[in-house]
Amino acid sequence: MTMQTTEWAYLRGEFVPLPEATISIKTHGFLYGTSVFEGIRGYWSDDKETTYLFRAREHFERMLRNAKLLMLDSPLDLEGMVATTTELIQRNNYRKDAYIQPRLYKSGQFIPPYIDGVETDYCCYTQAFGKYLDASKGIKVCVSSWRRLSDNSLTPRGKIGGAYVNSCLSSSEAHLNGFDDAIVLGEDGYIAEGSAMNLFMVKHNTLITPTTTDGILEGITRGTFIELAQQELGIEVCARRIQRSELYDCDELFFTGTAAQMVPIASVDHRTVGSGTGDVGPISQKLKDLYERIVKGNHPAYEHWLTPVPALAGAGTSS
Ligand SMILES: Cc1ncc(COP(=O)(O)O)c(C=O)c1O
Repeated sequence: MTMQTTEWAYLRGEFVPLPEATISIKTHGFLYGTSVFEGIRGYWSDDKETTYLFRAREHFERMLRNAKLLMLDSPLDLEGMVATTTELIQRNNYRKDAYIQPRLYKSGQFIPPYIDGVETDYCCYTQAFGKYLDASKGIKVCVSSWRRLSDNSLTPRGKIGGAYVNSCLSSSEAHLNGFDDAIVLGEDGYIAEGSAMNLFMVKHNTLITPTTTDGILEGITRGTFIELAQQELGIEVCARRIQRSELYDCDELFFTGTAAQMVPIASVDHRTVGSGTGDVGPISQKLKDLYERIVKGNHPAYEHWLTPVPALAGAGTSS
């Protein structure tokens, strides 16, 4: 007899089997995209039989800050979010890398497009998750014809559910035109970020990235790379406006993000990045190696960035 394993989610204050984690089609968050969410990675270690959540507290803290943008009153505090995520990962017992998507959303069944006075709920699901983009040899990107959202329309500072239509437009345009992903300009014509990643450029041994007021999400991975470059590798980092043409003559270029992790870029708008060999540049490679050691729990100095979730014997409840 085959044992069927139940996958669990968290909704309306309880753990529920994933197929029962459903919401009404009248839900405000579904009608108008009124939610804020996070993407968190869990890295599985076979040796330690543990999933390491990478910078989970920083992700939940960002979500709670973003909640203010949409007047979402969270039923859980940060510790409650960490505790329920830990339990979900233990119940789901993937024993491989995982992706966690927690969300605060307007759960009221309310027709007018207001945000004041509409109820909030918190939900979370997890899934086994490998690579988002193939980082082995560098990807091909284009500059999108779509512009990033602006702070005075729908701020890119928030990871707002409805705002991801903008990410979908730019990434699908890129795919349909034969590229792996897109770089998006802000309303003012300067570089903002990728469809759902931050961008870094290396020129004359300096690591350069757009500033937090250039129409970007202030990525947790971006912050990690800045800190590692400065503190561990002694690389000069400069956050400043970047013009499109600078991408064409830089030495190295890469994306960072929770889902994407670190992805080197081999070409932009058909112009080869750097030396043209297609190899990952030396600064990018050092940062990538360091990041991968840290997230997998192999760098003791950065253990404070990891939340260990030990696998439980017999977890993965059967139905
Ligand atoms: C629009 C956007 N920019 C940047 C990022 C990278 O942010 P983080 O490193 O916090 O995942 C993401 C992913 O969450 C994103 O959706």
